[in-house]
Amino acid sequence: MLSCRDLKKTYATASGAFAAVRGLDLDVPPGRFTAVIGRSGSGKSSLMAMIGGLSRPDGGSIMVDGADIWGLGERDLASYRNRKIGYVFQFASLLPALRVIDNVALPALLGRALPRPEAYARAGELLAHVGLNDHADAYPSEISAGEQRRAAIARALINRPNILLADEPTADLDEKTEREIMTLLIEVNRETRATLVLVTHNLALAAEAQEVVHIENGRIAT
Ligand SMILES: Nc1ncnc2c1ncn2[C@@H]1O[C@H](COP(=O)(O)OP(=O)(O)O)[C@@H](O)[C@H]1O
Ligand SMILES: [Mg+2]
Repeated sequence: MLSCRDLKKTYATASGAFAAVRGLDLDVPPGRFTAVIGRSGSGKSSLMAMIGGLSRPDGGSIMVDGADIWGLGERDLASYRNRKIGYVFQFASLLPALRVIDNVALPALLGRALPRPEAYARAGELLAHVGLNDHADAYPSEISAGEQRRAAIARALINRPNILLADEPTADLDEKTEREIMTLLIEVNRETRATLVLVTHNLALAAEAQEVVHIENGRIAT
């Protein structure tokens, strides 16, 4: 279970403090596909970054499997990010100097989740699963934006996360590629039973979710 309670995030800006997330409550049952929709600037990415352990809230709590993740020490928080969360970002996020397969294997190597041969074996399997068999040795700049996003999904899955966070993963892709990436994410959600939280502007895609959450001005709109 993923539960956000009275979650708050405030940014310091030139014109003073700006409250991007203002007392947000959200429950996502395990394994559920939840779509998050809302206007640009409504706080969606801020919410995802807090759930992903990347950005510390200014108030409230995020409970995952009974633990308040922002109450964890640095080491446990790093382990949470590495082991429990798979994050697919809005834009290209692969490291350009590494081959596709190195990018996918990296989280398993960094977290010492798997020994090197196993990490590479699993990275290869995941690349096959996302249809990138032939591009394992390519560099990110040598594959298309859609293929890069698939590689990012494979990377997000390498440590078998319980929660897959995808923040507008298809916003910059054409419609057909968007559909392919979405089909892949939904398949992963069904096959691995990982909770999928997807931020999207695409209402047709959101309609396929088991739950749709609307965010308005940093809160869940009812
Ligand atoms: N690092 C930051 N510093 C200052 N303001 C920020 C920062 N990140 C986001 N914001 C502001 O917070 C609001 C919510 O941003 P964000 O969570 O990215 O919304 P969304 O993903 O829904 O578009 C926006 O008004 C944005 O400008
Ligand atoms: Mg955003």
